Amino acid sequence: MKLVVFLLLFLQQSGSADCRCFCQVTGDLDDCTCDVETVDDFNNNQLFPKLQTLLESDYFRFYKVNLNKPCPFWTSISHCGLRDCAVKPCSPNEVPEGIRSSSHNKYSAEANEEQVDCEQAKHLGAVDVSLSKETREALLNWSKHDDEAERFCLVDDEGSPDSQYVDLLLNPERFTGYRGPEAWQIWNSIYEENCFKPYTVRRPLVPNSFHSSSGSEAKTFYSWLEGQCVEKRAFYRLISGLHSSINIHLSARYLLDDSWFQKKWGHNVSEFRQRFDSELTAGEGPKRLRNLYFLYLIELRALAKVLPFFQQPSFRLYTGRPEEDQKHKELLLHILQLARSFPLHFNETSLFAGDEKEAAKLKEDIRLAFLNISRIMDCVGCFKCRLWGKLQTQGLGTSLKILFSERQIEALPASSNQRPSFQLSRQEIVSLLNAFGRISTSIRELKNFRALLAEER
Ligand SMILES: *[C@@H]1O[C@H](CO)[C@@H](O)[C@H](O)[C@H]1NC(C)=O
Ligand SMILES: *[C@@H]1O[C@H](CO)[C@@H](O)[C@H](O)[C@H]1NC(C)=O
Ligand SMILES: *[C@@H]1O[C@H](CO)[C@@H](O)[C@H](O)[C@H]1NC(C)=O
Ligand SMILES: *[C@@H]1O[C@H](CO)[C@@H](O)[C@H](O)[C@H]1NC(C)=O
Repeated sequence: MKLVVFLLLFLQQSGSADCRCFCQVTGDLDDCTCDVETVDDFNNNQLFPKLQTLLESDYFRFYKVNLNKPCPFWTSISHCGLRDCAVKPCSPNEVPEGIRSSSHNKYSAEANEEQVDCEQAKHLGAVDVSLSKETREALLNWSKHDDEAERFCLVDDEGSPDSQYVDLLLNPERFTGYRGPEAWQIWNSIYEENCFKPYTVRRPLVPNSFHSSSGSEAKTFYSWLEGQCVEKRAFYRLISGLHSSINIHLSARYLLDDSWFQKKWGHNVSEFRQRFDSELTAGEGPKRLRNLYFLYLIELRALAKVLPFFQQPSFRLYTGRPEEDQKHKELLLHILQLARSFPLHFNETSLFAGDEKEAAKLKEDIRLAFLNISRIMDCVGCFKCRLWGKLQTQGLGTSLKILFSERQIEALPASSNQRPSFQLSRQEIVSLLNAFGRISTSIRELKNFRALLAEER
């Protein structure tokens, strides 16, 4: 019997690429009584299409963000100098040759190559901030409306004069060419300095140490992780899930063809395998995918819990067009009810509960870690990545705020006369739903990758 199990495991390990990515991504998910197959079916067939429709509405497509804050932790060493790269970049032809290449040695082939890479990274990573005149005016009206509503607290960026609205539909999350040491430094400081992990415990598969890493490192790491309380363990897995989602997006919207007359975006299976094939990642890939499901479930749970907030009669998805606003509110409530109907949730007595004093301390720890991670996002050199990074960390932060405020949400007054004890700002609402939209899209994309990998057999 043991031998058979061993053989099966062996076959799985060395089987086809689709198996190496997905065979371990099945069945029950840890810390939750749910399984992958149920999540796939629920998301792909029910939630995903409705959510897409909602996210295309005006309320959800405009996100206010400050993309110009300096990195508080280190000086950016980007050779691409993305800080001087205007958010709306000029095309190279508009910039005189002398200015374009003044800081580079034109005669060194290497510098020229770098230049080409930089041009590409700048171009793909730039954020399109164009808005129509009507949109601009309408947005002014929206913020007037929002200012009149009672505010709980300002989220960092919201009040800053440097903040601007960005149309998310014009700036899809996809491959930008932002990679290499700089991108790696961002993720590394998140994992190393902000995930409650002591330095002595090493993460498996840190780049550069790949060849020297042995199985024992992974073992130490996972046994450390298992020893953490459920929330801190959850925190690490949420970050890892976010990382997976971002990588799935850039593998699914890879720049396949970049020529004068067309840009073609699509699935790049080999990029996907680089990140998720168990053989190419020393067994880490499938764990990363499981963490994506975990993140999905946490955000889904937050959506289910926040329903009473949106059900308040006074709540509007305000864009100044009452009929549309009402229609979108109904769609939103429908989606939240759907989230609530999903049967397989977490063990309520184990996650975000515990004794009250301990829970309060934990809540504060996690809040601070999150705040810090959102500041790290200001160090992301590529503007489009920074935009989506900020949006997704804010969305996840909002999910956690909801999960930690269950009691206040349940106690929301039915009438609008009392000051509510729980509030969400427009920015939090937009980020909450859009961040979940990204994760939902990633789960949907896994289905495509499964099919593409199976074709390769
Ligand atoms: C903004 O609000 C004013 C007054 O309520 C209204 O007259 C105007 O049409 C609104 N503008 C837009 C673009 O919705
Ligand atoms: C915030 O993150 C930075 C960069 O990773 C790190 O150096 C710093 O210790 C963190 N601060 C807190 C309070 O966690
Ligand atoms: C797919 O990604 C790999 C890197 O993982 C790259 O080398 C390859 O050129 C890409 N394929 C296409 C068609 O762009
Ligand atoms: C839920 O968690 C509590 C405390 O950790 C545990 O005693 C209980 O057995 C769990 N329930 C289920 C159904 O797993």
